[in-house]
Amino acid sequence: MFSKFFSKQCLSALFALATACATSACTDTSQPSQTIVNYAQSAVPDDAQVAEVYQRSCMACHSRGASDAPLTGHSAAWQPRLAQGMETLVNNVVSGKGGMPPYGLCMDCNASEFQTLITFMATPAKP
Ligand code: HEC
Repeated sequence: MFSKFFSKQCLSALFALATACATSACTDTSQPSQTIVNYAQSAVPDDAQVAEVYQRSCMACHSRGASDAPLTGHSAAWQPRLAQGMETLVNNVVSGKGGMPPYGLCMDCNASEFQTLITFMATPAKP
């Protein structure tokens, strides 16, 4: 009885949080673990060409959470962003968002490259 009540409360709290995140500028409150922090500092995409773009453009901010950039591999921070849909995410990179300059500093990237980069960054950190 109690646990049923509790989980219902939890679920609605989570839902409220997710909604708030999706509709407003969301500051993720869940702190990344040390594993994620370590992963973000060094992880690069497997594909050499994608890795080159990532290191040149995105890594400076997304490897260390500069100006609250969601950390690479910190899936809890990426979840509410992914909920906006890939198209919106790509558009937000192109036009810039918050502390992120337009194109995430990759002026010659196309939509499909951005999509690959986003998918890489949102993939949960491997220990
Ligand atoms: C100068 C720092 C910086 C660089 C370089 C940068 N980002 Fe970001 N990025 C940010 C910050 C800060 C945010 C959080 C923006 C916010 O929600 O206010 C962000 C958010 C994002 C988001 C989430 C957008 C959303 O709608 O929630 C995506 C996707 C993203 N970055 C992709 C990229 C990609 C791909 C690159 C490389 C091509 C890149 N970023 C380069 C700082 C940067």
